[in-house]
Amino acid sequence: MDSASTTPVTAVIVVAAGSGQRLGYGMPKAKVPLGGDSILTHALRGVAAAGIARQICVAIPPGDEELRDLCEAFAQDLNTERQRGGDGGQFPVVTVVDGGATRAESVRAALAALLPDTVSVLVHDAARALTPEAVFHRVSHALAAGALAVIPVIPVVDTVKTVEATTGDGAAIAPELVTGTAARETLRAVQTPQGFELATLQRAHDAAASFDAGQAAAVTDDAMLVELLGVPVHAVRGASQSLKITTPLDLIIAEGLLEGPLGARWVEG
Ligand code: CTP
Ligand code: MG
Repeated sequence: MDSASTTPVTAVIVVAAGSGQRLGYGMPKAKVPLGGDSILTHALRGVAAAGIARQICVAIPPGDEELRDLCEAFAQDLNTERQRGGDGGQFPVVTVVDGGATRAESVRAALAALLPDTVSVLVHDAARALTPEAVFHRVSHALAAGALAVIPVIPVVDTVKTVEATTGDGAAIAPELVTGTAARETLRAVQTPQGFELATLQRAHDAAASFDAGQAAAVTDDAMLVELLGVPVHAVRGASQSLKITTPLDLIIAEGLLEGPLGARWVEG
């Protein structure tokens, strides 16, 4: 890409080791079909197309030979493309690791397999299979401009309230009671890829490795670990197309983005 000379050596970690319980396919979500390919294939293509990675490190469910083969076939395709002369972009090395029991453990397994001179790392959910290249570029540019941590975000469209479980007589009326209303203009829904200076993310995950089970369960992204270190986290614009495929409805939306009347042309910048 044009800014390759100023872009720090970057790895992209793709976490794909989840079981996909909420999607309910009875198989790891990375394998679930989407538009004739797997969710993981779409995610890997998006990362490679962005052209920012020297290495792509994929965390898969431990011992999943099918997903390991899928990653190896993808790496072979990249290699063939490079031998043909490619398009002048970067052709990343693909590394596969066994993920862990939690998303954070999967990230730590991938961090341990990054090439030695890596400077920056993006952590991306395989479940965000349709993230536009522009989002990878916005995150990467913020890192090149000096950010230690950067996340893609989108505005929240719903009013968001906090609640608590109803106790006493109120329980006969409704299960929860509202305790407050957040100021919507200050709220953002957070996506991936989240970008970090590698040493900062490593420090954040080293600290999290000793969390107890309750603390570990509360960790839903990498940026919150960096926030705990007191490091500023910058926010760039994400994209609604970058939805995390979590429930069956999300899969229907993702299929619609690929196959609907607008098809692949529907790319939000
Ligand atoms: N992930 C991972 N390792 C885990 C858990 C999750 O690499 N132990 C990854 C998933 O593969 C996914 C991303 O983290 O790409 C976001 O997680 P989520 O959407 O929750 O996926 P799953 O955990 O697979 O789904 P569910 O929670 O419904 O089981
Ligand atoms: Mg999960």
